This record gives sequence, structure tokens and C-alpha cells, in this order.
Amino acid sequence: MNIVDLDKARDLLLSGEVVAIPTETVYGLGGWINSDEGLRKIFSTKERPFFDPLIVHIDGIESAKKLSSDWTQIHDVLAKACWPGPLTLIAKKNDSVSPLITSGLDSVGLRCPRHEKTLELLKSIPGGVAAPSANKFGKTSPTQSQHVYQEFGDAVAIIEGGASDIGIESTVAGVVNGRVEIFRPGFYTAQKLKEILKEAGLNVEVVYAESPVAPGQLKHHYMPKIPLVITGPEFSWAKNQTEIEKELHKTFKKPAIWLLPENPSIASRELYQKMREFDEQGFDIILTPFLPNHSGEEWLGIWNRLEKAKTLSLARK
Ligand code: TXA
Ligand code: MG
Repeated sequence: MNIVDLDKARDLLLSGEVVAIPTETVYGLGGWINSDEGLRKIFSTKERPFFDPLIVHIDGIESAKKLSSDWTQIHDVLAKACWPGPLTLIAKKNDSVSPLITSGLDSVGLRCPRHEKTLELLKSIPGGVAAPSANKFGKTSPTQSQHVYQEFGDAVAIIEGGASDIGIESTVAGVVNGRVEIFRPGFYTAQKLKEILKEAGLNVEVVYAESPVAPGQLKHHYMPKIPLVITGPEFSWAKNQTEIEKELHKTFKKPAIWLLPENPSIASRELYQKMREFDEQGFDIILTPFLPNHSGEEWLGIWNRLEKAKTLSLARK
């Protein structure tokens, strides 16, 4: 693996190279926001379409404000409570933000990640580091340095940062007509954001909404190499796991039955890791039952990823 220290990572970024950075959600593929070369390399390395905007990682609120032309009180309260942490805030951008980052939109996604090494790196990079998840477009996100290596080999330098704690990507939220809209569910739920705002004296509605950017919400995303099928106790022949196996054995030789952990924090931490593991272990299909106790707001982020990663759903929810 091409592991680099923070000094080397900074030099690479400032010279227009990409570097994989650890965060508490997933590993990102970083490029310096003031280098068009670095930004272009993010898209070409990931094989990501240019119409899908990147989020900018910064070391704190002051740096975020320097990239935005309309940092509202709502942004400020949420950033103060949640940063460093798994929340991306969409704000109006100013002229210093390259259209390569925003796909020509007038807004920019900003996030201060909660990872010691990456925070230290960000302090040494003027402006910030744009970074999508460090995987090929549409595929499973990496939560360990080894996963990044599996995606890109030695072509991408990596900062070793251990396993990601949260395990799924940040909550993405924007302010639209005075209310907060969540475009991608994650660790920070609507209820939690509402509480934070309320405590600061702001009575603001927080809702889940369709993303204004279709790509991040593409129907298929986060996909493992082998098919993932969501099953459910409601589906008649899926009541009995042996029955499921028998049916699927006609097509698949080695199905893995994956029961999600009961605790949503653990489920989210293990999600992408498990998807990779089953493939490596030679299984040829993953069956994940939807169970009624796997619902509730804190499960939204997990099911959002599973619904996009799946090939088929047999569950009636
Ligand atoms: O946890 C994370 O957010 C990870 C780590 C590396 O920080 N990053 C990540 O990046 O997941 P990416 O590119 O895979 O997802 C960013 C999401 C996409 O769904 C994109 O469409 C959305 O943020 N996004 C970016 N800029 C936006 C904007 N101006 N308006 C609305 N959505 C935006
Ligand atoms: Mg991604």
C-alpha cells in the first residue's frame, strides 16, 4: 500500500495529486480545492460523472464561512453542535469555489470531519480539500485503508487512519426557504437536528427531501460485487430461512444470510465492511432480511444505503 505521512500528503495535494483521507464516516478521495488538476483527478480516478458535485472538507466554521456567501444562523448553530462530525451542510457558494466542485450549482457542500489526522492535514491546506468517498463511482464506500487499496492499488496515496467509526456517509442537509431539508440520511437524524436548533432558540422545521442533485441519489449506488437481496418475514416463502436458501440455491451456489446487528450504530459501522467480506469469502449472493425492529429514524441511513445497494427486494415494508 502507498501509505504516506501528513507532510507528504500535503505536498501531494498542493501539487495537484489526489490522496485518500480517513474520516469518521468513510475514507475520502481528496484533491486540493484550488487545483483544477487535483479536482479533475478525483473524477477521473473514481470514474465519476462531472455532474455529481463534491463536498469540501474544512478544518472548522471559519474556513467554511470563507467559501460561502450566505452562511445563515441555521448553518452556524448546526455546525457548532455537530462539527467536527458526520454532517455536510449545503450553503450558497462564493466566487472562490470552483465550478468543478459544485457541478455549476450555486451552492457547495461543506463538512468538518471528526478524524484527528485529517483535521491536522486540513489545517495545513489553504481553502480545503474536496473529497467524495474513495471508491469507483456507484460502488461500496471504503471504511478501511485496505478497501481503498483494493479499489485503486498503488495509484492512490493513502493516509492510514484505522477503521471508520460511523461507517456510512455523512447526513447531507441544506437550508431551503427557512427550513432544513435532509438530502441524504445519516447519523444526524431530522429529530436530532430539530432538537439542536430548538435548544438554540430556533423553531425550524427539519424534513427529509429529494436531493436537488439527482446523481447522489441515483437509484443504484454503493453496490457490492455480488447481488444483495432484501428479504422479509412478510414474504410468504421467506418466512423460513432454509426455504429461502433452497429457492436461491437453484441459481446461486453459496448464499450468505446477513442479519443486521440490533444496534444501528454497530449496523452502520459494519455495513460496507460486511458487503466486501461476503464477496471475499466466496459467497455469491447476500440475503438481508428486513425485520420490523430495524425501523425508526436511526435506521433510515442504513436502509437508504441498502435500498440502493440491492439488486432486488422481496420484503413488503
Ligand atoms: O461522509 C461523507 O460525506 C463522505 C466523506 C469522505 O466525507 N463523502 C461523501 O462524498 O460521501 P460523496 O461525493 O460520495 O457524496 C456527497 C453527496 C452527494 O450525494 C452529492 O450529490 C451531495 O453530497 N452534494 C454535494 N454538493 C451538493 C450541493 N451543492 N447540493 C446538494 N447536494 C450536494
Ligand atoms: Mg460516494
